[in-house]
Amino acid sequence: MNNTNLIEALEWRYATKKMNGNEIPKEKLDTILEAIRLAPSSFGFTPYSVVVVQDKELQAKLLPLCYNQSQIVDASALLIFAPWKNITEEQVDVYMKEIAETRNIPVESLNDFANAIKGKINHSSNEDLHTWASKQAYIALGFGLAAAALEKIDSTPMEGFNPAGVNELLGFNEKGLQAACILALGYRDVEKDYLANATKVRRKKEALFIEA
Ligand SMILES: Cc1cc2nc3c(=O)[nH]c(=O)nc-3n(C[C@H](O)[C@H](O)[C@H](O)COP(=O)(O)O)c2cc1C
Repeated sequence: MNNTNLIEALEWRYATKKMNGNEIPKEKLDTILEAIRLAPSSFGFTPYSVVVVQDKELQAKLLPLCYNQSQIVDASALLIFAPWKNITEEQVDVYMKEIAETRNIPVESLNDFANAIKGKINHSSNEDLHTWASKQAYIALGFGLAAAALEKIDSTPMEGFNPAGVNELLGFNEKGLQAACILALGYRDVEKDYLANATKVRRKKEALFIEA
C-alpha cells in the first residue's frame, strides 16, 4: 500500500446515506475487523467491545431507535462500538496476563505498568472513565472507516441513535456495555443517495493546520 492509495480511498469514501442492501464478502468484513483490532488505545487497554450485527430482524428492531436512518437495515453489517460501563482492576489483571503470555515474560515484571493503569482508574470519576473509554472506541471507529475505504466498502459512522434504547435492545446493560457509535457497512445506492456524487467539503489546510 502507498500513501496515494490511502488518500484516494479517503476521497472515495463518504458517509453513505442510502445503501443498496447487498452483502459484503466475509473476507472484507474480516479485514475491517482486523484493522479495528489493531487500533491503538491508551495503555493498549482497549476498554470497549465491538458488537457485530448481521441479522436483518435485529436491524429492523434497531431502525426506530436510530431515527429510522435507512442504513441501519440496508447495511450488510453494523458494528456497534461500546465502551465498557465499569472499568475495574480485574480487567487490568486480565490484560497483564495477556501481555505476559503473548510476550512470554513474568506477569510480575508488569507490576509498575499495571499500577499505572490502576492508579488512573482509582483516581478518576466514573464519568471521566467513561469519556476516556469512549475516546479509545472512536479511534477504533476511525481505523474501521479507513479500512473500509481501502477495501472499497461503503460505510456510515453514526451517532444518531437513542443510546438507552439500543443498550436495552441489545442487552448491553447486563453485559456492562454502552453503545457509543455505530459503523454501518455495505454498498452505496448511487441512484438514490443524494450525496453519492457530492464534492467532499473539508476545512482548508491553512485553516486546519496551524504552525506552532
Ligand atoms: C461520530 C460521527 C457520527 C455521525 N453520525 C451520523 C449519523 O448518525 N448519520 C449520518 O448519516 N451520518 C453521520 N455522520 C457522518 C457525518 O455527517 C459525515 O462524516 C460528515 O458530514 C463528513 O462527510 P463525509 O464523511 O461524507 O466526508 C457521523 C460522523 C461521525 C464521525
